[in-house]
Amino acid sequence: MEQVFPSDFLWGAATAAYQIEGSLCADGRGPSIWDTFAAVPGAVLGGAGGDPACDHYRRHREDVALLGELGLPAYRFSTAWPRVMPDGRTVEPRGLAFYDRLVDDLLDRGIRPLVTLYHWDLPQALQDVGGWRERDIAERFTDYVRAVHERLGDRVVDWTTLNEPFCSAFLGYGSGVHAPGLRDDGSALVAAHHHLLAHGTATRALRELGGPDQRLSIVLNFSPALADADDDAHRDATRRFNGLHNRFFLDPVLGRGYPDDVLADVAHVGALEPAIRDGDLATLAAPVDWIGVNYYAPTRVVPLSDPDIPSNCSLPGLRGLDVLPPQGPLTSIGWEQHPESLTELLVWLGEYCGDVPLVVSENGAAFNDVVDPDGRVRDARRTRYLAEHLRAVHAAIARGADVRGYLAWSLLDNFEWSFGYTQRFGLIHVDFDTQRRTVKDSARFFAEVVARNAVPA
Ligand code: NOJ
Repeated sequence: MEQVFPSDFLWGAATAAYQIEGSLCADGRGPSIWDTFAAVPGAVLGGAGGDPACDHYRRHREDVALLGELGLPAYRFSTAWPRVMPDGRTVEPRGLAFYDRLVDDLLDRGIRPLVTLYHWDLPQALQDVGGWRERDIAERFTDYVRAVHERLGDRVVDWTTLNEPFCSAFLGYGSGVHAPGLRDDGSALVAAHHHLLAHGTATRALRELGGPDQRLSIVLNFSPALADADDDAHRDATRRFNGLHNRFFLDPVLGRGYPDDVLADVAHVGALEPAIRDGDLATLAAPVDWIGVNYYAPTRVVPLSDPDIPSNCSLPGLRGLDVLPPQGPLTSIGWEQHPESLTELLVWLGEYCGDVPLVVSENGAAFNDVVDPDGRVRDARRTRYLAEHLRAVHAAIARGADVRGYLAWSLLDNFEWSFGYTQRFGLIHVDFDTQRRTVKDSARFFAEVVARNAVPA
């Protein structure tokens, strides 16, 4: 028996510019905050940076051909702001020309391009004037979005404004483990608001520029809190964690403004509410056509005896709970494998988001894959992870969640941010010395799922 997905279900794989492109100095590209951050000793494991990554900037034809060979109908990738506008403001036509060719290659093979406009590589020139801490970034982002749309909008209909603003705001400006590496709770919360302001402003602009068949979205990362008791204290800990991690970014996009309980939880930081101006919440509420759901793992939380004790987790201003170590089985990056949480998350989101459909815009697992002497990558653990999570998506649809697609993370092993090249998430193995690509067993499994539109039970 197999579990069959809805007939128009969208299947594909995802990547992001900085993680795969390399060629950081080619064709006038300007420096990004990740170039700067990666150069700081100790910031990235192994002292690695985004060059050469997967050398995709020069090998994109080969990579699109692999997508075609696997029969994947959709490909989610990001455009790099520092290629399109090296100084954050002035268009570099050679940067746009790269994405123009990529889109044409995809369409030639019948692969639907889903363009993410921001996947964390802010032009360094904009960071030099405050980056996401400055309100003006929303206009800068919207100018960039207009430039990309002007070049690609005749062929691309699927646009995502931001990928995981949680990470680029909270990890970039709060815990400092991502670029630009700042550690300030107030800046993190203000940066989050400015991300959402940029999303809303750009979404309005895209709506004016594009035709009626255009589909606009934002991609958020969700990690449902798990607690091992159901008393008041544990319920409050999960509420606080889910509030700041999951509802904080979602509610304003759905037109509900920031959740009151979360505003109260972070009020002691004193930074967020002064940054919210009249009219902002209406901008943040610009309608989207779907919400992208990135899911990897849940988070286990436990209440602290005193609600004023700061949390050990990386969420700005969060107090009164601690994050516990994940429980096995883990992936190589140390994340818990818990497909049931994906079902519960999608069922909850299905109800919470009302009429707005969902797309699983990222899901996948890192394992230490090796190419065997016979040239195969026998990544059975990733195949199992994918099968379990696909069944979890199917179960959520059966329970009524309006999930329209699933995009595997990632097409290629790539630069995993502060983990450098130590974590392989790809369906396709990349030898970073030779740039040789090897299709893993899990990719063949996924291709079969896509071809059958069904996962084995
Ligand atoms: C989500 C991010 O969007 C992506 O860039 C990252 O590689 C994966 N998570 C895995 O950590």
